[in-house]
Amino acid sequence: MRPEAPEHSFPPTTKVATVLAALAVAAAAACGAGSESQGPRPPVAPSASGASPVATAAPASASGSASGVAPASTAAIAAVHASAFGADLERLGLDPHKLQPLSKLPPDVIRKLMPTFSKSLGVKCEFCHDKNNFKAWTPHKRVASKMWDEFVVKLALEDGGPLYCDSCHSGKSEFLERHDKKALSGWMDANYVSKLKRSDQNDHGCETCHGDPFEPRFLAIWEKAK
Ligand code: HEC
Ligand code: HEC
Ligand code: HEC
Repeated sequence: MRPEAPEHSFPPTTKVATVLAALAVAAAAACGAGSESQGPRPPVAPSASGASPVATAAPASASGSASGVAPASTAAIAAVHASAFGADLERLGLDPHKLQPLSKLPPDVIRKLMPTFSKSLGVKCEFCHDKNNFKAWTPHKRVASKMWDEFVVKLALEDGGPLYCDSCHSGKSEFLERHDKKALSGWMDANYVSKLKRSDQNDHGCETCHGDPFEPRFLAIWEKAK
Protein backbone atom coordinates (compact mmCIF):
# COMPACT_ATOMS: atom_id res chain seq x y z
CA MET A 1 0.00 0.00 0.00
CA ARG A 2 1.33 3.37 -1.01
CA PRO A 3 0.66 6.50 0.98
CA GLU A 4 -1.41 9.04 -0.95
CA ALA A 5 0.13 10.95 -3.86
CA PRO A 6 3.84 11.17 -3.06
CA GLU A 7 5.72 14.13 -4.51
CA HIS A 8 7.51 12.16 -7.17
CA SER A 9 4.28 11.00 -8.81
CA PHE A 10 4.24 14.13 -10.96
CA PRO A 11 4.66 13.34 -14.64
CA PRO A 12 8.29 12.16 -14.74
CA THR A 13 9.01 14.39 -17.73
CA THR A 14 8.70 17.49 -15.58
CA LYS A 15 11.28 16.28 -13.14
CA VAL A 16 13.57 14.76 -15.72
CA ALA A 17 13.55 17.97 -17.75
CA THR A 18 14.53 19.94 -14.65
CA VAL A 19 17.29 17.48 -13.88
CA LEU A 20 18.61 17.54 -17.44
CA ALA A 21 18.86 21.32 -17.29
CA ALA A 22 20.81 21.00 -14.04
CA LEU A 23 23.00 18.31 -15.58
CA ALA A 24 23.98 20.53 -18.50
CA VAL A 25 25.15 23.17 -16.04
CA ALA A 26 26.89 20.61 -13.85
CA ALA A 27 28.66 19.02 -16.80
CA ALA A 28 29.99 22.41 -17.85
CA ALA A 29 31.15 23.10 -14.31
CA ALA A 30 32.73 19.67 -13.95
CA CYS A 31 34.84 20.21 -17.06
CA GLY A 32 36.44 23.25 -15.53
CA ALA A 33 36.74 21.83 -12.04
CA GLY A 34 39.96 19.93 -12.78
CA SER A 35 39.00 16.97 -10.66
CA GLU A 36 42.05 14.90 -9.89
CA SER A 37 40.45 12.05 -8.00
CA GLN A 38 41.74 8.49 -8.14
CA GLY A 39 41.73 6.60 -11.39
CA PRO A 40 40.58 7.76 -14.79
CA ARG A 41 36.86 8.33 -15.07
CA PRO A 42 35.30 8.35 -18.49
CA PRO A 43 34.59 11.93 -19.55
CA VAL A 44 31.02 13.15 -19.30
CA ALA A 45 29.32 12.85 -22.68
CA PRO A 46 29.31 16.30 -24.26
CA SER A 47 25.72 16.18 -25.50
CA ALA A 48 24.05 15.98 -22.11
CA SER A 49 21.19 18.13 -23.35
CA GLY A 50 20.51 15.68 -26.15
CA ALA A 51 20.27 18.64 -28.49
CA SER A 52 22.91 17.42 -30.93
CA PRO A 53 23.15 13.64 -30.95
CA VAL A 54 24.63 13.70 -34.46
CA ALA A 55 28.27 13.85 -33.50
CA THR A 56 28.17 11.17 -30.81
CA ALA A 57 28.85 7.85 -32.48
CA ALA A 58 27.41 5.77 -29.67
CA PRO A 59 28.26 2.06 -29.93
CA ALA A 60 24.57 1.29 -29.57
CA SER A 61 23.79 2.87 -32.91
CA ALA A 62 26.46 0.84 -34.66
CA SER A 63 24.70 -2.35 -33.66
CA GLY A 64 21.29 -0.73 -33.88
CA SER A 65 18.40 -2.43 -35.58
CA ALA A 66 17.78 -1.99 -39.27
CA SER A 67 14.40 -0.43 -38.51
CA GLY A 68 16.23 2.61 -37.21
CA VAL A 69 14.73 2.27 -33.74
CA ALA A 70 17.81 2.08 -31.52
CA PRO A 71 17.37 -0.02 -28.37
CA ALA A 72 17.20 2.05 -25.19
CA SER A 73 20.76 2.59 -23.99
CA THR A 74 19.72 1.49 -20.54
CA ALA A 75 18.44 -1.91 -21.69
CA ALA A 76 21.58 -3.66 -20.44
CA ILE A 77 21.44 -2.25 -16.89
CA ALA A 78 20.12 -4.91 -14.53
CA ALA A 79 16.93 -3.78 -12.79
CA VAL A 80 17.04 -3.37 -9.02
CA HIS A 81 16.00 -6.65 -7.40
CA ALA A 82 15.80 -8.59 -4.12
CA SER A 83 19.17 -9.64 -2.71
CA ALA A 84 20.40 -13.22 -2.95
CA PHE A 85 22.37 -12.78 0.31
CA GLY A 86 19.43 -12.72 2.75
CA ALA A 87 20.26 -16.13 4.21
CA ASP A 88 23.99 -15.31 4.46
CA LEU A 89 23.20 -12.16 6.42
CA GLU A 90 20.86 -14.05 8.75
CA ARG A 91 23.57 -16.64 9.39
CA LEU A 92 25.76 -13.78 10.63
CA GLY A 93 23.00 -12.76 13.04
CA LEU A 94 21.86 -9.80 10.91
CA ASP A 95 18.29 -8.99 9.88
CA PRO A 96 18.51 -8.18 6.15
CA HIS A 97 15.49 -5.88 6.50
CA LYS A 98 16.92 -3.95 9.44
CA LEU A 99 20.65 -3.56 8.91
CA GLN A 100 22.51 -1.28 11.30
CA PRO A 101 25.15 1.31 10.33
CA LEU A 102 28.54 -0.32 9.72
CA SER A 103 30.03 1.36 12.80
CA LYS A 104 27.57 -0.57 15.01
CA LEU A 105 28.63 -4.01 13.78
CA PRO A 106 31.21 -6.11 15.66
CA PRO A 107 34.57 -6.33 13.79
CA ASP A 108 34.30 -10.09 13.30
CA VAL A 109 30.90 -9.69 11.62
CA ILE A 110 32.28 -6.98 9.32
CA ARG A 111 35.10 -9.29 8.29
CA LYS A 112 32.70 -12.15 7.61
CA LEU A 113 30.59 -9.85 5.43
CA MET A 114 33.47 -9.15 3.09
CA PRO A 115 32.85 -12.00 0.61
CA THR A 116 29.32 -10.62 0.07
CA PHE A 117 30.85 -7.26 -0.94
CA SER A 118 33.30 -8.92 -3.35
CA LYS A 119 30.66 -11.15 -4.92
CA SER A 120 28.07 -8.38 -5.22
CA LEU A 121 30.50 -6.20 -7.17
CA GLY A 122 32.46 -8.98 -8.92
CA VAL A 123 35.75 -7.68 -7.55
CA LYS A 124 38.71 -8.85 -5.47
CA CYS A 125 39.44 -7.56 -1.97
CA GLU A 126 42.12 -5.21 -3.36
CA PHE A 127 39.45 -3.26 -5.25
CA CYS A 128 38.73 -1.60 -1.91
CA HIS A 129 41.71 -2.51 0.26
CA ASP A 130 45.38 -1.73 0.30
CA LYS A 131 46.66 -5.30 0.48
CA ASN A 132 49.49 -4.27 2.80
CA ASN A 133 47.14 -2.53 5.20
CA PHE A 134 43.50 -3.61 5.21
CA LYS A 135 42.62 -0.94 7.75
CA ALA A 136 43.70 1.91 5.47
CA TRP A 137 40.94 3.96 3.83
CA THR A 138 40.83 4.04 0.04
CA PRO A 139 38.33 5.87 -2.23
CA HIS A 140 36.47 2.64 -3.01
CA LYS A 141 36.38 1.61 0.63
CA ARG A 142 34.88 5.00 1.51
CA VAL A 143 32.22 4.65 -1.17
CA ALA A 144 31.43 1.09 -0.03
CA SER A 145 31.02 2.27 3.54
CA LYS A 146 28.64 5.07 2.44
CA MET A 147 26.69 2.64 0.20
CA TRP A 148 26.07 0.56 3.31
CA ASP A 149 25.08 3.44 5.59
CA GLU A 150 23.12 5.55 3.05
CA PHE A 151 21.58 2.96 0.72
CA VAL A 152 21.41 -0.48 2.32
CA VAL A 153 20.45 0.83 5.79
CA LYS A 154 18.24 3.79 4.85
CA LEU A 155 16.43 2.40 1.79
CA ALA A 156 14.18 -0.60 1.22
CA LEU A 157 12.58 -2.35 -1.73
CA GLU A 158 8.92 -1.39 -2.31
CA ASP A 159 8.07 -5.08 -2.80
CA GLY A 160 9.44 -6.05 0.62
CA GLY A 161 12.42 -8.12 -0.57
CA PRO A 162 15.82 -7.55 1.09
CA LEU A 163 17.89 -4.69 -0.38
CA TYR A 164 21.64 -5.31 -0.42
CA CYS A 165 24.69 -4.50 -2.53
CA ASP A 166 23.86 -7.15 -5.14
CA SER A 167 20.33 -5.70 -5.56
CA CYS A 168 21.87 -2.87 -7.58
CA HIS A 169 25.33 -4.14 -8.56
CA SER A 170 24.44 -7.60 -9.93
CA GLY A 171 28.10 -8.67 -9.98
CA LYS A 172 29.53 -5.43 -11.41
CA SER A 173 31.30 -2.50 -9.78
CA GLU A 174 30.29 -0.13 -12.59
CA PHE A 175 27.11 -0.73 -14.52
CA LEU A 176 25.41 2.59 -15.30
CA GLU A 177 25.13 3.49 -18.99
CA ARG A 178 25.87 7.19 -18.79
CA HIS A 179 26.15 8.50 -22.33
CA ASP A 180 22.41 9.14 -22.66
CA LYS A 181 21.51 11.15 -19.55
CA LYS A 182 17.85 11.35 -20.48
CA ALA A 183 17.52 7.58 -20.81
CA LEU A 184 19.47 7.09 -17.58
CA SER A 185 17.22 9.56 -15.75
CA GLY A 186 14.20 7.56 -16.89
CA TRP A 187 15.89 4.36 -15.74
CA MET A 188 16.68 5.93 -12.34
CA ASP A 189 13.05 6.97 -11.98
CA ALA A 190 11.76 3.47 -12.84
CA ASN A 191 14.26 1.68 -10.57
CA TYR A 192 15.74 3.82 -7.81
CA VAL A 193 12.63 5.95 -7.21
CA SER A 194 9.64 3.70 -8.04
CA LYS A 195 11.05 0.41 -6.72
CA LEU A 196 12.67 1.83 -3.59
CA LYS A 197 11.41 3.72 -0.56
CA ARG A 198 13.01 5.25 2.51
CA SER A 199 13.10 2.99 5.54
CA ASP A 200 11.88 5.94 7.63
CA GLN A 201 8.86 6.30 5.27
CA ASN A 202 9.66 9.93 4.39
CA ASP A 203 9.11 11.16 0.80
CA HIS A 204 11.52 9.53 -1.61
CA GLY A 205 12.75 10.95 -4.91
CA CYS A 206 15.90 11.82 -6.85
CA GLU A 207 16.96 14.11 -4.00
CA THR A 208 17.20 11.19 -1.54
CA CYS A 209 20.49 10.26 -3.21
CA HIS A 210 21.41 13.25 -5.40
CA GLY A 211 20.51 15.98 -2.92
CA ASP A 212 18.81 19.27 -3.64
CA PRO A 213 20.13 21.02 -5.71
CA PHE A 214 20.71 17.94 -7.84
CA GLU A 215 24.34 16.71 -7.74
CA PRO A 216 24.85 14.24 -10.62
CA ARG A 217 28.25 12.96 -9.46
CA PHE A 218 27.91 12.69 -5.70
CA LEU A 219 30.14 9.58 -5.55
CA ALA A 220 33.13 11.86 -6.12
CA ILE A 221 32.23 13.44 -2.77
CA TRP A 222 31.78 10.03 -1.13
CA GLU A 223 35.24 8.97 -2.33
CA LYS A 224 36.70 11.66 -0.11
CA ALA A 225 34.21 11.38 2.73
CA LYS A 226 36.38 9.98 5.52
C1 HEC B 1 33.52 -2.99 -2.03
C2 HEC B 1 34.61 -2.69 -1.11
C3 HEC B 1 35.19 -3.82 -0.30
C4 HEC B 1 35.59 -5.06 -0.73
C5 HEC B 1 35.52 -5.64 -2.14
C6 HEC B 1 36.16 -5.73 0.42
N1 HEC B 1 36.11 -4.90 1.50
FE1 HEC B 1 36.83 -5.33 3.33
N2 HEC B 1 36.04 -3.60 4.07
C7 HEC B 1 35.33 -2.68 3.33
C8 HEC B 1 34.72 -1.72 4.23
C9 HEC B 1 33.85 -0.53 3.83
C10 HEC B 1 35.08 -2.11 5.54
C11 HEC B 1 34.63 -1.49 6.85
C12 HEC B 1 35.50 -0.40 7.28
C13 HEC B 1 35.01 0.18 8.59
O1 HEC B 1 33.92 0.73 8.65
O2 HEC B 1 35.73 0.03 9.57
C14 HEC B 1 35.93 -3.29 5.40
C15 HEC B 1 36.55 -3.94 6.46
C16 HEC B 1 37.42 -4.99 6.32
C17 HEC B 1 38.27 -5.54 7.37
C18 HEC B 1 38.37 -5.01 8.79
C19 HEC B 1 39.46 -3.98 8.86
C20 HEC B 1 38.95 -2.67 8.38
O3 HEC B 1 39.25 -2.30 7.23
O4 HEC B 1 38.19 -2.03 9.13
C21 HEC B 1 38.96 -6.58 6.85
C22 HEC B 1 40.00 -7.43 7.52
C23 HEC B 1 38.54 -6.72 5.46
N3 HEC B 1 37.61 -5.73 5.19
C24 HEC B 1 38.98 -7.69 4.61
C25 HEC B 1 38.46 -7.89 3.32
C26 HEC B 1 38.72 -9.06 2.52
C27 HEC B 1 39.60 -10.24 2.95
C28 HEC B 1 38.07 -8.89 1.34
C29 HEC B 1 37.94 -9.85 0.16
C30 HEC B 1 37.25 -11.10 0.48
C31 HEC B 1 37.40 -7.59 1.41
N4 HEC B 1 37.65 -7.03 2.63
C32 HEC B 1 36.67 -7.02 0.39
C33 HEC B 1 35.22 -2.66 1.95
C34 HEC B 1 35.50 -3.74 1.13
C1 HEC C 1 20.46 1.46 -4.58
C2 HEC C 1 21.47 0.87 -5.41
C3 HEC C 1 22.81 0.52 -4.81
C4 HEC C 1 23.06 -0.24 -3.68
C5 HEC C 1 22.07 -0.91 -2.75
C6 HEC C 1 24.51 -0.32 -3.58
N1 HEC C 1 25.10 0.37 -4.60
FE1 HEC C 1 27.10 0.65 -4.88
N2 HEC C 1 26.74 1.80 -6.51
C7 HEC C 1 25.49 2.05 -7.04
C8 HEC C 1 25.64 2.83 -8.25
C9 HEC C 1 24.52 3.32 -9.14
C10 HEC C 1 27.03 3.04 -8.44
C11 HEC C 1 27.71 3.73 -9.61
C12 HEC C 1 27.98 2.65 -10.65
C13 HEC C 1 28.58 3.15 -11.95
O1 HEC C 1 29.35 4.12 -11.94
O2 HEC C 1 28.30 2.54 -13.01
C14 HEC C 1 27.68 2.38 -7.31
C15 HEC C 1 29.06 2.41 -7.11
C16 HEC C 1 29.72 1.73 -6.09
C17 HEC C 1 31.15 1.72 -5.88
C18 HEC C 1 32.17 2.49 -6.71
C19 HEC C 1 32.56 1.65 -7.91
C20 HEC C 1 33.59 2.31 -8.80
O3 HEC C 1 34.08 1.63 -9.72
O4 HEC C 1 33.89 3.49 -8.61
C21 HEC C 1 31.39 0.90 -4.81
C22 HEC C 1 32.76 0.58 -4.21
C23 HEC C 1 30.13 0.40 -4.35
N3 HEC C 1 29.12 0.94 -5.13
C24 HEC C 1 29.96 -0.49 -3.31
C25 HEC C 1 28.73 -0.92 -2.81
C26 HEC C 1 28.58 -1.81 -1.69
C27 HEC C 1 29.71 -2.45 -0.91
C28 HEC C 1 27.24 -1.94 -1.48
C29 HEC C 1 26.53 -2.68 -0.36
C30 HEC C 1 26.98 -2.31 1.00
C31 HEC C 1 26.54 -1.14 -2.48
N4 HEC C 1 27.48 -0.55 -3.28
C32 HEC C 1 25.17 -1.01 -2.57
C33 HEC C 1 24.27 1.65 -6.51
C34 HEC C 1 24.10 0.89 -5.38
C1 HEC D 1 18.95 5.25 -4.63
C2 HEC D 1 19.80 6.37 -5.02
C3 HEC D 1 19.46 7.11 -6.30
C4 HEC D 1 18.25 7.71 -6.63
C5 HEC D 1 16.96 7.75 -5.85
C6 HEC D 1 18.50 8.33 -7.92
N1 HEC D 1 19.79 8.13 -8.32
FE1 HEC D 1 20.64 8.87 -10.03
N2 HEC D 1 22.42 8.02 -9.49
C7 HEC D 1 22.65 7.31 -8.35
C8 HEC D 1 24.06 6.98 -8.27
C9 HEC D 1 24.75 6.21 -7.16
C10 HEC D 1 24.66 7.54 -9.42
C11 HEC D 1 26.15 7.58 -9.75
C12 HEC D 1 26.65 8.93 -9.22
C13 HEC D 1 28.11 9.23 -9.47
O1 HEC D 1 28.73 8.65 -10.37
O2 HEC D 1 28.68 10.08 -8.72
C14 HEC D 1 23.59 8.17 -10.18
C15 HEC D 1 23.80 8.81 -11.40
C16 HEC D 1 22.81 9.46 -12.10
C17 HEC D 1 23.00 10.12 -13.37
C18 HEC D 1 24.31 10.17 -14.15
C19 HEC D 1 25.09 11.38 -13.73
C20 HEC D 1 26.37 11.57 -14.52
O3 HEC D 1 26.79 12.72 -14.67
O4 HEC D 1 26.96 10.57 -14.97
C21 HEC D 1 21.81 10.68 -13.72
C22 HEC D 1 21.52 11.48 -14.97
C23 HEC D 1 20.87 10.38 -12.67
N3 HEC D 1 21.50 9.62 -11.71
C24 HEC D 1 19.57 10.82 -12.65
C25 HEC D 1 18.66 10.54 -11.63
C26 HEC D 1 17.30 11.04 -11.61
C27 HEC D 1 16.67 11.95 -12.65
C28 HEC D 1 16.73 10.53 -10.48
C29 HEC D 1 15.28 10.68 -10.02
C30 HEC D 1 14.30 10.31 -11.05
C31 HEC D 1 17.74 9.73 -9.80
N4 HEC D 1 18.90 9.76 -10.52
C32 HEC D 1 17.52 9.04 -8.61
C33 HEC D 1 21.72 6.98 -7.39
C34 HEC D 1 20.41 7.39 -7.36
